[in-house]
Amino acid sequence: MIRDAHAVVWTRLSGIPVKMGELHVTESESRFVYELPFLQTGLPGLGLVLSPDIFAENTIRWLRTERFNFPPPIQSLIPPAGEHNFQRRLILNYLHTIGIQSGSEFENDWNILTFSGHGGIGHVDVFSSDDKARHWYAIPTMPQQDFLKKKSSLGFSLKNMLTWYEDETGYLLDFIGPTPSVNGAIPKLLLSIPRTGWNGQVGLPTRFGDTQSTDIILKLEKDTAYPGIVELEALGLDIHRQAGFATPRYWVTEFEGIHALAIERFDRDEQNIPVFQESLFSVLASGNRNIQNHYDASYDQLGRMFDNPRLTLIEDRKSAKKHLLKRLLLSFLTGNGDLHLENLSLQIRNGQTDFSPVYDPVPMRAYSIHNILSAMPFGHYGDYTAKQNRPRGFTQAVKAFNQSLGFDKNQLSALIDELLSITDNFAHQVNALKSLPQENRKNLIRIHDDIKHRLSML
Ligand SMILES: Nc1ncnc2c1ncn2[C@@H]1O[C@H](COP(=O)(O)OP(=O)(O)OP(=O)(O)O)[C@@H](O)[C@H]1O
Ligand SMILES: [Mg+2]
Repeated sequence: MIRDAHAVVWTRLSGIPVKMGELHVTESESRFVYELPFLQTGLPGLGLVLSPDIFAENTIRWLRTERFNFPPPIQSLIPPAGEHNFQRRLILNYLHTIGIQSGSEFENDWNILTFSGHGGIGHVDVFSSDDKARHWYAIPTMPQQDFLKKKSSLGFSLKNMLTWYEDETGYLLDFIGPTPSVNGAIPKLLLSIPRTGWNGQVGLPTRFGDTQSTDIILKLEKDTAYPGIVELEALGLDIHRQAGFATPRYWVTEFEGIHALAIERFDRDEQNIPVFQESLFSVLASGNRNIQNHYDASYDQLGRMFDNPRLTLIEDRKSAKKHLLKRLLLSFLTGNGDLHLENLSLQIRNGQTDFSPVYDPVPMRAYSIHNILSAMPFGHYGDYTAKQNRPRGFTQAVKAFNQSLGFDKNQLSALIDELLSITDNFAHQVNALKSLPQENRKNLIRIHDDIKHRLSML
């Protein structure tokens, strides 16, 4: 048994804070209802599927499951319980310091959601009450501090922090205070820096009216597990930019021997106002209860989703499918293998829904534990088909996926030629990475050469 719980959802999508709706959680379900005045605003709501257009005045009744206690756009605000989730530990630690003890997994989730489920990635802000929301939105921006100086005056080592022991994450809290959460395997902090770019000065994420600063995600390199990952991510972003994808500004930096990547947030506009953003995981899981993990779909299924006559996600269906194909092919060529549903997001800008700029394009196959071709199936790769008595190979699967998207052979060849020429210099670029161990460089180049060879035979 749990007591019924209640929280409120607000958003600053229009530039000013507006209440979006109410969340009621019972033992078996989470119920969300849009505020009537919010429905008048015409703003997008929680998500593309759980939208005001579709649900209007009706209550969204979400049957609770182990994975999704809450509707996916709300669940996304909570770093999942897992032994090594840095963000989750950070927040639970903070809650401990303000006298909120750790409880059951659900109680922890609930506390994380109501205490830190605002100001994070995207446009959805959750609070325990409307008063708390108003109070929070009224807090002005804090002045930025010198990351390097402040840290040494505290006399702790950021390097220790990365060992993820509880008492060490406490030091970080002293320095930056509670920062909103962002999910994932790599230690990340949401911070702000001067709009002109990284210079070592950081502050908490921007607040209303602050246009001198820009919001960033600071990704820290855990060099025991992933040496060289910062340089690799920078290379991934560069290549995607050259291939014509929108990519955020970024700065590679180092302090106390820790490599870090500061990446400008694109879920905020030029005035630092939130932009509607939702991962494909949240979109899919909102409409299909079989989707429980961020790899529970095939790329072919995503293609069909963009073609669904009953649901228009992206107006220009053809360009959505082309984006998907190009991202997947480039992910193969750069040894990424990690293009799962949480690494693809949609945004609404000027009333138009489209893919967000690129994030997390790290050539992860450089690390043996991540050396898989693809996080999700495509074109029945590896499946036994009726005609053949051996599993379908890579090139066959690429062709089949291309066909399932409705493109012809010439379109595929042209795209492959373009991407081969963009990645022509890949081996050289990888060899130039100073912090990636030689073994990893060698493996990554071997993987790239193999894919390049196979794709050029198509
Ligand atoms: N520049 C950005 N602007 C806005 N949102 C971003 C940006 N970069 C990342 N995000 C969001 O933050 C989330 C986590 O970032 P990212 O995917 O880069 O790291 P990660 O999840 O730790 O990597 P992994 O997927 O290997 O665990 C993303 O899923 C995305 O929602
Ligand atoms: Mg990611």
